[in-house]
Amino acid sequence: MTRIFSGIKPSGHVTLGNYLGAVRRWVEVDQHRAEALFCVVDLHALTVDHDPARVRRLSRQAASLLLAAGLDPRLCTVFAQSHVAEHARLSCLLECVASEAEARRMAEYAERAGAARRAGRGVRLSLLTYPVLMAADILGYRADEVPVGDDQAEHVELARELAVRFNQRYGAVFVVPRVTLSPVGARVMDLREPAVAMGKSSASAAGVVYLLDEPEVIARKVMAAVTDDEPGVSYDREGRAGLANLLEILSACTGKEPQVLAESYGDAEALKRDTAEAVVEALRPLRARHAGLSADPGYVDGVLREGAARARELARPTVDAAYRAIGLLPPG
Ligand code: AMP
Ligand code: TRP
Repeated sequence: MTRIFSGIKPSGHVTLGNYLGAVRRWVEVDQHRAEALFCVVDLHALTVDHDPARVRRLSRQAASLLLAAGLDPRLCTVFAQSHVAEHARLSCLLECVASEAEARRMAEYAERAGAARRAGRGVRLSLLTYPVLMAADILGYRADEVPVGDDQAEHVELARELAVRFNQRYGAVFVVPRVTLSPVGARVMDLREPAVAMGKSSASAAGVVYLLDEPEVIARKVMAAVTDDEPGVSYDREGRAGLANLLEILSACTGKEPQVLAESYGDAEALKRDTAEAVVEALRPLRARHAGLSADPGYVDGVLREGAARARELARPTVDAAYRAIGLLPPG
């Protein structure tokens, strides 16, 4: 059976980009058609300046939102990365397979390290090695597919290269995974800055819709989206990025093609109004379920505990095999 692995970082509040680019497909498609694992990758949230209490809170919230979005622990495994030691164990080995130059080439590293330096902050070593830990997340489970938004494609490509290299040097331990992208919503852009992706850690929240925003807040953010001065509505990703983003969000919510939607609108205001409504409606059931779950943190903790037990069982034999293959003495 196909095995799927993906993850979400508890480094900020979960956004509409996370939902449309990744989570929704995990819920609607992936958990039903494969053996799927979805991980709150909390160690990854420590790669930039962080507040311990906030990471703890966001980790539980991310898990609760995944369940509220519809991941079903009877169908898939939901767990926290730090609860399964195999991730860190394997990352150690993969750091001996990856090169420093390879890690430095990652666009996300260049971008985040640049931002940290510009702000006069240091760059944590873990930010550089982060894609190797991500490769360990994936390879430890011998995952076939990794459903992510397109910003993560370069990291999955690195995981593929490390799998191939390890297998060639030390023996066939790993499955070579492939990335799977959402047909729509693979890159939701910031509503105020349509040239940059909508992100958890954006400097301003004005262009970012969070899954737990109140409906009025969502409507206000969408109505204030930046478009352009040209009259009418057309779908042109390069020339009219703001409109294209709204059309893609509406498309992701309604299932209609952005091109077709563009033809049915005479002006941006009407498009914004319908998009705001579609987003509010798409998130309404999720908000309601989240409210129920957050009243019962014991349930979420229980799901994570059982998920970790299952994940450990799956990863341990592969990571043990990698330890033997690379030349480490088996424990007595
Ligand atoms: P992260 O917030 O980096 O933990 O991302 C979790 C998942 O959401 C990954 O698969 C990302 O590729 C995806 N994702 C994050 N931001 C966006 C966005 N703006 N558009 C589409 N997918 C996104
Ligand atoms: N790096 C991913 C992100 O920022 C999160 C992640 C960590 C992940 N490990 C993973 C995604 C393994 C897929 C598979 O979104």
